[in-house]
Order: sequence, then C-alpha cells, then structure tokens
Amino acid sequence: MPVLPSSSPTAATSPPHALLFGASGQIGRRVLVRLLAAGWRVTALSRQPQPEQPGVVWRQAGLPDAGPGEGFDAILSCGPLDLFSQWYAATPIGQARVVAFGSTSVHVKGDSSDPHERDLARRLREAEARLAQAAAARGAAGALLRPTLVYGAGMDRNLSRIAALARRWHGFVLPHDARGLRQPVHVDDLADAALAALAMSGAETPVGAAAAAGPDGTGLRAYDLPGGETLGYREMVARVLAVQRPPSRLWRLPGPLFDLAAALARMLGVHDAGAAVLARMRQDLVFDDAAARRALGYAPRPFRPDSAMFEPPLQERAAAVAPQ
Ligand SMILES: NC(=O)c1ccc[n+]([C@@H]2O[C@H](COP(=O)([O-])OP(=O)(O)OC[C@H]3O[C@@H](n4cnc5c(N)ncnc54)[C@H](OP(=O)(O)O)[C@@H]3O)[C@@H](O)[C@H]2O)c1
Repeated sequence: MPVLPSSSPTAATSPPHALLFGASGQIGRRVLVRLLAAGWRVTALSRQPQPEQPGVVWRQAGLPDAGPGEGFDAILSCGPLDLFSQWYAATPIGQARVVAFGSTSVHVKGDSSDPHERDLARRLREAEARLAQAAAARGAAGALLRPTLVYGAGMDRNLSRIAALARRWHGFVLPHDARGLRQPVHVDDLADAALAALAMSGAETPVGAAAAAGPDGTGLRAYDLPGGETLGYREMVARVLAVQRPPSRLWRLPGPLFDLAAALARMLGVHDAGAAVLARMRQDLVFDDAAARRALGYAPRPFRPDSAMFEPPLQERAAAVAPQ
C-alpha cells in the first residue's frame, strides 16, 4: 500500500515518485527499501555508479548541483544537510513533501572546544533555517529529522569503529569516568520515522518544534530522534564488545592516565578521536523524543546489539579487499 502524501497530484493515477538523496548511505539504504516496499518509484542519487535495482532509477550526481527536482511527489535527504538545503533552496521543485535528516549535533556542538565541531553546528543550524524558509516560501510541508548516535548497518563511524578497533586490538580502553548518557538509535527506526513523516499530511503535523512552519501546517517540523534506551557510555561500549566474536575485553583506566594514553595512541595513528570527542564520553547527550512519538508514532527499540550490526555490508567488505 503506497504511503502517499495527501496532496499528491499523481496519487490516483500512477505510483508516487520520490527523489532520494544519500540513498547509498547507512540510513538511505534502509529508507530506499521501505519506499520500494510501500509502492514508490524512486529516483536515487549517488556520486558513484550503483548496481541496477527494480523500481529504482539511479542518477549519478553530487550535491549541491544535483540536477532537476520537479515532478516528484516527495523529496528525501539522507545525505549532507547543508549541501541538500542549498540544492533545495535553489531548485524549482513545486510543493513536493520534503523529509530531511539533520543531526542532534546542532544542539551540542555549538560550544565545542573543537573549531571544526563548532563549524559543523553552525552549518547545520544554517541549513535547517535555509530548508525551513524555502519550504515555507513554496507552501511545501515536511519534516526535519535529527538522529543522535546511529548504529545497526555496520557503516557508522561511532560504534562500528569502536568494534573494529576492539577486534584489531583484542579489547578497548575507556576512562573510569566515561559515564555520559547516550541514546544509540538503530537505522531501521530512523527509516521507519522517515516513512511516517512522509505519510503525514501537513494538517497532521502540529507537534514538533516548528523550524519555520506556516499556520496551515506547511513548512518544516523538526523532530529529535534518539534511540529507545538511555545508558551510560561505558555500558553502551561494553554491550558492543560483548557481542564481538570472540567477545572483546574492556579495560578501564583512571581519567588522567586514559587522556595521556589516548593522546599518545592518536599520535601513533591508532585512532583519530580528538580531545572534544574524548571529553564527550563524560557528558550526557540526551534528547526528548516526545514530539516524534506523538506525531510519527516513533517507538525506537532499546539498545540490544548483535555482532552483525557492526560488520560492514558485504559490498563494502568486497571493496576493502579488492586490488586498488
Ligand atoms: N551517522 C550518525 O551517527 C548520524 C548521526 C546523526 C545524524 N546523521 C545524519 O543523517 C544523515 C545520513 O547519515 P548516514 O550516517 O546515513 O550517512 P552516510 O552513511 O555517511 O552516507 C552519506 C550519504 O550521503 C551521500 N553524500 C555524501 N556527500 C555527498 C555529496 N557531496 N553529494 C551527494 N551525496 C553525497 C553519500 O552518497 P555517495 O557517496 O554514494 O555519493 C551517502 O549516500 C546525514 O545528514 C547525517 O549527518 C548521522
């Protein structure tokens, strides 16, 4: 049963057509599968050639000059929000519903000690505003979805990277005080949220922080999307290590000793986590999903990892061993 935007002009005559950015990424792949299952035709973008797939037309292009956007019932972005917002604001697209992924980094990295992180937060903030203004100006409705720490497809740069380091070094080291709270969110819960956001009509979206919403439900609503369980950083990592085959060990060091060892390991190229990343292990990053639960029926799963969630997909594994 197609999940149609209520205002779709093509709803009665032909399958709805979605334009999907970031379709090759960890969230985008799961969104693509759900769109096809729900009866959408999809034009999917990637900068790389992609294997053919029934129901999908791949457009090889990069943002922000990603080609035309007219004639679609919905536009979804699972790619870089700043580049997508530039394309969206500059490209005629009519009133297609828009669903775009941003990040809760917009809330937490604005006062980071790392200038790159501050810059990221600024770009995200500007992108959200650009997107919201462009949507409101065209009378289009949509949702901005802000996940926190994403896992589940073996393609993330957080827990999958920790799992890979632990496999390589037969263990992982954390400071004693790595107790900052986290809410890891599974890619499938995010893909479900994207489809739910697509299915809402503008009039059904009164909850959620209005990024820039019109009185009639047009414009964008923003939803933070944390995972379904809040747990300490150390417990989160311990669960990842426990499901490795064989299970990896977790070593704990006193805070100052850990900081010294981490700085040394970084100099030796063992990892690339900067000081701000390491400091955040001690900070709570907790977000409220109440608006998403009400508006999108969002019901994320608790954090119950298995080893497959931290292994790269077969395609990536094959590429990693292929001769260059
Ligand atoms: N990973 C997390 O923990 C996390 C947390 C919060 C928010 N988010 C946000 O969620 C969204 C999706 O994240 P993800 O982790 O699924 O991403 P990902 O796995 O890193 O994939 C990124 C996607 O964006 C596309 N892309 C990158 N640069 C592009 C460009 N210049 N032009 C066109 N396409 C480009 C890539 O396509 P090609 O390489 O095939 O062109 C790929 O499909 C992003 O907005 C991200 O900021 C992620």
